[in-house]
Amino acid sequence: MSAALQGKQILLGITGGIASYKSAILARRLIDAGADVRVIMTQGAQAFITPLTFQALTGNPVHTDLLDPAAEAAMGHIELARWADYVLIAPATANVMARLANGLADDLLTTCCLATEAPLAIAPAMNRLMWSNPATQANLATLVSRGASIIGPGAGEQACGEVGEGRMSEPEAIRDALAAAITTTPNNSNELQGKSFVITAGPTEEAIDPVRFISNRSSGKMGFALATAAQAMGAEVTLIAGPVALDTPPHVKRIDVKTADDMLDATLNAVKNADVFISVAAVADYKVAKFSSEKIKKTDDELTLELVRNPDILKTVASLKARPFCVGFAAETQNLEKNAQGKLNAKKLDMIAANQVGQANNPVFGSDTNSLSVYWGKNKEQIAPAAKLDVARQLLKLIAKQIN
Ligand SMILES: Cc1cc2nc3c(=O)[nH]c(=O)nc-3n(C[C@H](O)[C@H](O)[C@H](O)COP(=O)(O)O)c2cc1C
Repeated sequence: MSAALQGKQILLGITGGIASYKSAILARRLIDAGADVRVIMTQGAQAFITPLTFQALTGNPVHTDLLDPAAEAAMGHIELARWADYVLIAPATANVMARLANGLADDLLTTCCLATEAPLAIAPAMNRLMWSNPATQANLATLVSRGASIIGPGAGEQACGEVGEGRMSEPEAIRDALAAAITTTPNNSNELQGKSFVITAGPTEEAIDPVRFISNRSSGKMGFALATAAQAMGAEVTLIAGPVALDTPPHVKRIDVKTADDMLDATLNAVKNADVFISVAAVADYKVAKFSSEKIKKTDDELTLELVRNPDILKTVASLKARPFCVGFAAETQNLEKNAQGKLNAKKLDMIAANQVGQANNPVFGSDTNSLSVYWGKNKEQIAPAAKLDVARQLLKLIAKQIN
């Protein structure tokens, strides 16, 4: 989990969408990450979920009324607006986006948004047609042009029974995107502006027969953290993901693949115009020589599988004539520095980020934290153990220095 939210004062606005039930979990996740959370609910939101839920979760009274003398005397709209380090609206209805885009101040939430200097992040949630409506898209563009961070929405099955874009991002993804926005906003939000990144993440899956495959323990979290942070720092990001159970980071183009061969094809296609390629995926080194189209039957005999080498995606990209800045990842169980430097030179990389794996105190795979030793040319820099999102941001800053 990122340390970026530690001690931050987050004003959480909840509006009248069905996804507001997920905001209770979001409030919990923000508090777990160390944030101080105060909640404003619109009248619409209160039709879906009660203020009492959020009062119990945050330990603070929930703010609902603008023109209520008692509420205004306790903590008025200007005090709330001043208190906030960050305003997060989740879910954000089409209605609140329209009101914000037009500068309306007709309830407590929109009035606070006008009266605050805190950055605004919104997590839209609505029916797919409401989302794609030109009016909503124009409001979105206005909010983006004023600097709002937009988290999601994702695509998939919707509460209304339709399938499409407009689902609110999951609470954990909203927490992480907010943390990334906070860590990158203050002084360097645009360090990667105009740069295009291709990042591979997760394991690959090499089929043996229709029901079995060879894979590894990579969770994809480090690659997804890099994609989230790079996007928040202004880059255009294509994320090529093996089979993982992770939400797509906001505004990142995701291409799902299974095998190393598929990942190579997708990567070669994507890196054509890229400035930076970061290979984080744990690509299977081997695949079976002969895929069995029928399920292999169990017998009393031993079974030997013949394995052949998979393509080396990073080496292939690094040997292209017009190649992007190439960054490799090396997970090593021993001789970290020697092996990492060896790969840096053998594959002619621009930079390599190495981590020690396989130790009881540093499982890395599946974990939310990481630490890295980064090597480029004759240089070396250590990134201390931290949330993968923070580690990602630090690595991207090193990359930014090299490419800018
Ligand atoms: C059952 C139901 C579900 C709704 N879900 C959404 C939604 O997910 N997103 C949205 O933009 N509006 C949704 N609406 C419409 C909003 O509630 C309506 O536009 C309301 O005025 C929003 O007010 P607010 O933005 O001040 O909270 C829904 C309405 C109903 C009756």
